[in-house]
Amino acid sequence: MIEILKIIHLLALMFGAAASFGNLYMLMAKGPADLPSPGFTGQLRFMFRLSALVAILTIWASGVLLLFIKYGWWINSFSFDAKIVFATIVLLIVLFLNLLAMRTPKGPGAPPSYVPVLHIIGAGSLVLAMAFAVVAFV
Ligand code: HEM
Repeated sequence: MIEILKIIHLLALMFGAAASFGNLYMLMAKGPADLPSPGFTGQLRFMFRLSALVAILTIWASGVLLLFIKYGWWINSFSFDAKIVFATIVLLIVLFLNLLAMRTPKGPGAPPSYVPVLHIIGAGSLVLAMAFAVVAFV
């Protein structure tokens, strides 16, 4: 059971990382690759957004189950606290961006200027959550 949960936890982390870094690569893609293709870009944004949502919800569900089954209510270590702080930042950013997208009418056009900043903070937080997770469970 614990093995299955951990496989799910880490697989979701892989999918989440793909979405998070995909968004960063799209931010970096300037120059010849940046030809006008709003439909294609919109599809990619949609898939990354959805993958990130499913991934972070799965990471949280599997993580909470792993915690309760294996360790009880909490793990008293700085690294675990830090991991949960960064995991919470990722969750809030992904939820916010999905709600924003749902409320924004469909059509061409770039997202608001703070969205790239949130992608960068989200990717950084994901990397830090991963690093603190490793330290927490050494
Ligand atoms: C973005 C968020 C998260 C990331 C990147 C992440 C990453 C990881 C990684 C890489 C491991 C494996 C560590 C190792 O075995 O060395 C791990 C294990 C674990 N995670 Fe997470 N995690 C996240 C969120 C959460 C949350 C929200 C919880 C619980 C509330 C949680 C609970 C756990 C537990 C209990 C384990 C230990 C499993 C074991 O003992 O083998 N994780 N996590």
